[in-house]
Amino acid sequence: MRGLMEAKRPIWSSKISFILAATGSAVGLGNIWRFPYVMGQNGGALFLLIYILIIATICFIPMIVELLVGKTTKKECVGAYESINPKFKTFGIMCPVTGILVSSFYFVVGGWIINYFLKSLINFKCNDYLKYFSDFTQDGVSVCACTLLFLFGCVFFNARGIKKGIEFANQVLMPLFALLLLFLIVVSLNLPNAHLGLEYMFKPDFSKLNSQMFLAALGQAFFTLSIGPGTLLTYGSYIKEDKSIAKTAYTIIIFDTIFALSAGIMIFPAVFSFGLEPNSGPGLVFVTLPEIFSQIPYGEIISVAFFILLLCAAMTSGISMLEIPIATFSERFKMTRKKACGLLFLIIASISIPAGLSFGILSGMTVFHKTIFELLDFTTSNIMMPLNSLILCLIAGWVMKIKGKSFLQNEKLSKLFDVGLKYVVPVVLILLFYMGLK
Ligand code: PFF
Repeated sequence: MRGLMEAKRPIWSSKISFILAATGSAVGLGNIWRFPYVMGQNGGALFLLIYILIIATICFIPMIVELLVGKTTKKECVGAYESINPKFKTFGIMCPVTGILVSSFYFVVGGWIINYFLKSLINFKCNDYLKYFSDFTQDGVSVCACTLLFLFGCVFFNARGIKKGIEFANQVLMPLFALLLLFLIVVSLNLPNAHLGLEYMFKPDFSKLNSQMFLAALGQAFFTLSIGPGTLLTYGSYIKEDKSIAKTAYTIIIFDTIFALSAGIMIFPAVFSFGLEPNSGPGLVFVTLPEIFSQIPYGEIISVAFFILLLCAAMTSGISMLEIPIATFSERFKMTRKKACGLLFLIIASISIPAGLSFGILSGMTVFHKTIFELLDFTTSNIMMPLNSLILCLIAGWVMKIKGKSFLQNEKLSKLFDVGLKYVVPVVLILLFYMGLK
């Protein structure tokens, strides 16, 4: 009976499908929306340097651990933790909970993109894009409708299963995303004074170095690589055979970084070309860029392409977040995938709607001086994601005693991995966790 249940578990059709889906999870709003503005707020090129250093050394370890635990246990998050030790079940439960909470604010931004995409189709122009953004985000009906539409779009793919849904979505959306990105980079680099944007991105000013940059880079790295909520564990549990898990992790990291850099190369030359501020924060994509699109030749077409690109990126990540609780609901409670998706739709809708309304009628509703949207963003990105990752690294290093030599051929590298897993990553994560709480 047990064997029969396990045989029913879905698996990826190929290693490439898995890498594409994991890259689709990593490449999202974190790359196109968050990365450029966090970089803009943290000094440009120097931030980029620190960020690359962190992802190449530190993030590699928790990423491998998640993939390995998923691959070896072949279970959804709760079952995976339980199979290591039944006492760890609570840690496993934290994963689908984090997945649900991350999605609940991420999908609100997904809804904003739907609105901008629809508006770009009718060639919308206005005098004050900042006012448009703030009016729209305060308009409860539009925000809720767009959020639910985005949620429905993602759930639809999840409900179709791994091969017909998740793989298919990534096979269509990721190439489309890459193509549009390339097109927009060419457009941006051809604008007057585009080189100023490139200088901003690639010429570090070491006099600006501060500790806040490390924290911002670490937070950004975890968010963009989807480390912590259990996406990699869940996706890893669908791998059939993979002897080179380290190479797989590096491939995902390299793709994600290429896409983040490309997003910067698409955005900063345009921003500098129009003499706008690169550090305008979350509004960079929703205020600054539409303003630029309204002033360049063929801006209407470029704007449609940009919001489709953003939609593709957000959807492949959104789908991966949903997969964490869907796998738990369907495997633990023996629900059909469709029922699990329906239930999840209701749960996420009931949290995303108040989160979306927190820019309008619920703006006065605050906890610790944070609106519902801010609270979800803060608790998931700054607390739950690093905490989940810290717990899994401690379990992997000290309880499971995972050793680098089991998957790395190079002896020196595997020793570095062991030290990193047992000491460096936990210390860095505790630091991140502590500083994130302040
Ligand atoms: N990595 C995604 C992005 O960069 O937009 C965000 C993300 C996806 C976070 C999946 C968490 C997650 F589980």
